[in-house]
Amino acid sequence: MLNKINDLVEKVQQFHADSAESIEQFRLKFLSKKGEISLLFDEFRNVPAEMKKQVGVEINRLKQLAQQKYDEATQQIENIVSDSDKHDLTRPGEAFEMGTRHPISLVKNEIIDIFSRIGFTVAEGPEVEDDWHVFSAMNFPLEHPARDMQDTFFVEKASNNEPNPHDILLRTHTSSVQSRIMEKRQPPIRMIFPGRVFRNEAISARAHCIFHQVEGLYVAENVSFADLKQTLLYFSKEMFGPDTKIRLRPSYFPFTEPSAEMDVSCTICGGKGCNICKGTGWLEILGCGMVDPNVLENCGIDSKKYTGFAFGMGVERIAMLKYQVRDLRLYFENDIRFLRQFKSAY
Ligand code: DAH
Repeated sequence: MLNKINDLVEKVQQFHADSAESIEQFRLKFLSKKGEISLLFDEFRNVPAEMKKQVGVEINRLKQLAQQKYDEATQQIENIVSDSDKHDLTRPGEAFEMGTRHPISLVKNEIIDIFSRIGFTVAEGPEVEDDWHVFSAMNFPLEHPARDMQDTFFVEKASNNEPNPHDILLRTHTSSVQSRIMEKRQPPIRMIFPGRVFRNEAISARAHCIFHQVEGLYVAENVSFADLKQTLLYFSKEMFGPDTKIRLRPSYFPFTEPSAEMDVSCTICGGKGCNICKGTGWLEILGCGMVDPNVLENCGIDSKKYTGFAFGMGVERIAMLKYQVRDLRLYFENDIRFLRQFKSAY
């Protein structure tokens, strides 16, 4: 008798409900009045007295198990049925929302597009760079403050305190791609280098430790400052509208001589003065200049034969002006309600 009970326990355990019908069969076989378990109770009468206790316990255990299996299976099948009731086949479909490009990508792509129309091709360089390409080759004196730990994220310092061209760091500007490219190829070079840059700065509405730049470089015979100015005027008009004016103010960068910063006439007030341009009528958008002959020589280009110009602009800065977004952090938080507002051809 005990063997028989064990056999049935095994069968009950193996039962797997795949339809309402199989559950009903299970019920008939085990739990109905004429089912296996009822028969066991009938036979129980003939069990010798000394075995009754043990057999009784086992039969009850089997009965509970079968009942539990049955309840679970019924519950499961009811869930499936009520789920399919929820599918209203006549309900209209839901429209898929199209993704949009990130505003920083939109502006970056537009910059690339504008320069590609006048023959600039695109290259990229590594974000983890060595000191040589970011600073030394770009004519930064060893004691230049931009090499200071405050500005630069170092990955690996070659020696304890002294700056060293072998230091490994996160590039602080895309000017590093200038040296990478010029080491590899001879003029004419007419290229732009978009990319991410990193600076050890506290995050605020106006500054972020990661941002994007687009660098420009044109090296050939007889490239002049007038070429630089005309190129940037063309860019500004394409980017901000045909009435845009530019102005160049003398400045200093180690890698250009002479150097300048460029302002565009305020995109909001058109030059009359407003709170965006702080009443000046002008907005600063980039740094530029003639490539310093030292930079050309550091990269193996004959500075007697070739001259060049370079410029570098912040993509976030241009995006802020274009979209009137005052807080830089919005570009990094990726709040879908912010991103949804940007739809464009780029
Ligand atoms: N690298 C400069 C910066 O990050 C920007 C810059 C200025 C780039 C002048 C240039 C340049 O190519 O000629 O602030």
